[in-house]
Amino acid sequence: KQGGSDAAKRAAGESAAEAVEDGMVVGLGTGSTTAHAIRAIGRQVDAGLDIVGVPTSFQSRELAREAGIPLADLDEVSVDLAIDGADEVAGGDLIKGGGAAHAREKIVDASADRLLVVADPTKEAETLSHPVPVEVLSAARTTVAESVRELGGEPTLRQAERKDGPVVTDNGNLVLDCAFGDIDEPAALGRDLASLPGVVEHGLFVGLADEVHVGSEEGVTVREL
Ligand code: A5P
Repeated sequence: KQGGSDAAKRAAGESAAEAVEDGMVVGLGTGSTTAHAIRAIGRQVDAGLDIVGVPTSFQSRELAREAGIPLADLDEVSVDLAIDGADEVAGGDLIKGGGAAHAREKIVDASADRLLVVADPTKEAETLSHPVPVEVLSAARTTVAESVRELGGEPTLRQAERKDGPVVTDNGNLVLDCAFGDIDEPAALGRDLASLPGVVEHGLFVGLADEVHVGSEEGVTVREL
């Protein structure tokens, strides 16, 4: 998977995990950077930390279970703090969904009192320009693709790597990766995408982040928003 070094991802993930405190309900994001945070939280739980995790994907549920973190669903608890990765970060705005988990990630991240984003320097940009993952009901893939073209984007149905055919999300849907070039108004584009019939969720996360932890081999920079 693209991105920076594992050491940079680890530094970011472990930095965000330090914000977890006794008694918290913690949203557990998805991806290789958040995986380091989940493992670090697991070590704290081993040492006596009393928290509950809310996973955002099959992957984060499995990792959290291996790490020994007690889990709950979002309908049972409310989230104090979420930790999540990103495919691109510009200021506090994100593009997510490189692992096709952005629908559940957005539900958990948006419900959290605070969202800490973990990233390495390769994710940082002045302006968002990464293709926007759009999760769609299978029946809507053609109509949504047409509408994306009308909005100035170029949609590509995401294909699975080790299977013939498309990626199917944890929710049983498909993903259109939609290239728009520079996204000068992410909030407006997000509203346009969300309004299309058959769109389950898109990967633009606008104004949700409270802190961005950018790890490198030299250390971590924390940006408060
Ligand atoms: C999952 O769908 C994504 O939103 C991830 O959070 C994002 O792709 C970051 O993953 P990495 O930390 O592996 O780059």
